[in-house]
Amino acid sequence: MATLPQRRLSTDLGASLVYLNGEFMNPEQATISPFDRGFIFGDGVYELIPVFGGRLFRLPHHLQRLQDSLNAIELANPLSPEQWGEVMQRLVDETGGGDQYVYLQVTRGVAPRNHVFPEDALPTVFAYAQAKPFPDEGVDQPGVAVITAADIRWQRCEIKSVSLLGAVMLRQQAQRAGAIEAILLRDGLVTEGAATNVFLVIDGVVITPPKGQLILPGITRDLVLEIAQENGMAVEERQVREAELASASEIWITSSTNEIKPVGTINGATIGDGRSGPVFKRIYGLYQDYKQAVREGKAE
Ligand code: PDD
Repeated sequence: MATLPQRRLSTDLGASLVYLNGEFMNPEQATISPFDRGFIFGDGVYELIPVFGGRLFRLPHHLQRLQDSLNAIELANPLSPEQWGEVMQRLVDETGGGDQYVYLQVTRGVAPRNHVFPEDALPTVFAYAQAKPFPDEGVDQPGVAVITAADIRWQRCEIKSVSLLGAVMLRQQAQRAGAIEAILLRDGLVTEGAATNVFLVIDGVVITPPKGQLILPGITRDLVLEIAQENGMAVEERQVREAELASASEIWITSSTNEIKPVGTINGATIGDGRSGPVFKRIYGLYQDYKQAVREGKAE
């Protein structure tokens, strides 16, 4: 038999400590079976939780969304909220605290390949913390480039599934076009970004598509809505037609890793003056204040 090409593991996986099935270890020691249903079927769910000043951001919200995802795929939660909190806080503390994010994933475990749920598999539980600077970039920012693309994903986008092939292909399409995100269109309506939620400002009103099975209920999205409402800003959760993208004075994308980013161009056409607009500036300042309150233990 011809010799197979030698493969080397990338040395920097970005994590110095991982949690796998009840144990903390170095990433190099963490191994799972190729028969894991996460690997074979993408049969699992995940969460990504920002950490500010060593504190897990909106932890109850993330744990609730994890529970919702697990319920949707009929997989029992392997850990209680307290246990999840302990695991994640230990990962954060033992890797130096500060600003990070925690990634966690639960799959349906190792079983002979068969689409139907196995009866006796134990879920695989994996988590790690990774340092990430979340700087306050100031309210005046250049906008990012995005494209629009057909929403080629499935119809249960509210589940935070590890089956991310649609998102992977769409992000690659965006990158090839010199953009950082694809804003997705289904039946003439804006759903969300490949890995972000989308906001528009039209006539001073902050607009975002409603929750449902066609978008992920973003934790950042909900916080932006919450902050906007608390500060008396006009907000609408409603369907957004593709044509409205062209009439928006501002477009933003939001996610745990991107926070809130102003869109400068969409398919090459400039939005507003291509930089952060007045409504963005207000919401961004409030969001940074909220982050600071989390760092100081005054908000969760
Ligand atoms: N993505 N929509 C999709 C499809 C997403 O994958 C994400 C998050 C969001 C924003 O959700 P949140 O505000 O809770 O991060 C919306 C994560 C960050 C990722 O896959 O890396």
